[in-house]
Amino acid sequence: MKVEDVLESQLQKRKQNGSFRTLKIADPKQIDFSSNDYLGLAQVSEIHQPIEEFVENGASGSRLLNGNKQYHEDLESFLAEFFKGESSLIFNSGYVANLGVLSSIPQKGDVVLIDELSHVCIKEGVRLSRAQHFSFKHNDLSDLEQKLNKFHKQGGNIFIVVESVYSMDGDESPLLEIVELANRYDAYIIVDEAHSTALHGDSGFGYCCHLDIQDKIFARIYTFGKAVGAHGAAVVGSKILREYLINYSRQFIYTTALPYSNVKTIEAALNYRQNHPELWDKLQKNISLYHEILNQDISKLNSNHPIQGVIFKNNNDAIQFSNYLNENGFNVRPILSPTVAKGKERVRICLHAFNSEDEVRNLCHHINQYFK
Ligand SMILES: Cc1ncc(COP(=O)(O)O)c(C=O)c1O
Repeated sequence: MKVEDVLESQLQKRKQNGSFRTLKIADPKQIDFSSNDYLGLAQVSEIHQPIEEFVENGASGSRLLNGNKQYHEDLESFLAEFFKGESSLIFNSGYVANLGVLSSIPQKGDVVLIDELSHVCIKEGVRLSRAQHFSFKHNDLSDLEQKLNKFHKQGGNIFIVVESVYSMDGDESPLLEIVELANRYDAYIIVDEAHSTALHGDSGFGYCCHLDIQDKIFARIYTFGKAVGAHGAAVVGSKILREYLINYSRQFIYTTALPYSNVKTIEAALNYRQNHPELWDKLQKNISLYHEILNQDISKLNSNHPIQGVIFKNNNDAIQFSNYLNENGFNVRPILSPTVAKGKERVRICLHAFNSEDEVRNLCHHINQYFK
């Protein structure tokens, strides 16, 4: 069979089950209830003002060759301080940071336990590692404990991998309890802070620092493409963790370093966030308003986070509801299986600090109308 025919038949399968993906450009007339730019920092032009002088367009090499610049090391010192860690190491995105950590750190004989709702880059990362890996039921401490109990007798190290806030459900990980379990079973915790970076805490230093458990976490992954409104990621942890990743993480070693403009944007955006705590307060107000107005019998996510959503039982119903909201001027997107579990397809609704009260009220009014 010709390869085009193989690909075409795979695409047909997607079309038949309603999960065919296409690229769409957001309609600027629609109100943004979709982007991960929770605080609106991607749109703040003054964040770019510190980048005045021309330095270079690209880093022109990987960090271990001639791509390692003072501006990378300065940002890493800044990030280590901002996120209260001993050191930090920049990666080119959150996806590759998770691959970099999870594929290189757990060794043969180790066990990695990941929450079943972990992002695909966590699942891919552990698949690339030489350790055994298993998932535990979402946020289920007794399932996690059962697995810790079973595997801690094997002798290797155990890693527990969670997201501080889950990307599709918007719920938080029970991190205080997980720290307690990890302590009891000598396990190491890795936290992906993709959806808490720049959100939690007065300065936006994320969920672990907010809970003051940063010293109990082996590695924290902060991403800059969501609430920071920029691009890239950093792993924060001990100096030895940083040195190890520089030596063993292929995703760090074999790629061109982030360019100057990107590096400067990350620092400027985090400083901007620190100086504007009112953005987080405004976001909280919008989240409360949304829950207050939405009819209680609607099958919505139970989330205190900007990630919200309405759940359906199949792809087509989610697509239909998403189209309805799009036609009424709201930019939302359906999240279909296989991205989420079958029967839990949804329309993801992201609330932002920049959404006005009227916009949130209007959105809720349309959702309520649809289910009447
Ligand atoms: C939990 C989580 N981790 C990692 C990533 C990847 O981050 P990035 O977009 O920076 O590659 C995402 C993005 O969707 C995510 O939701």
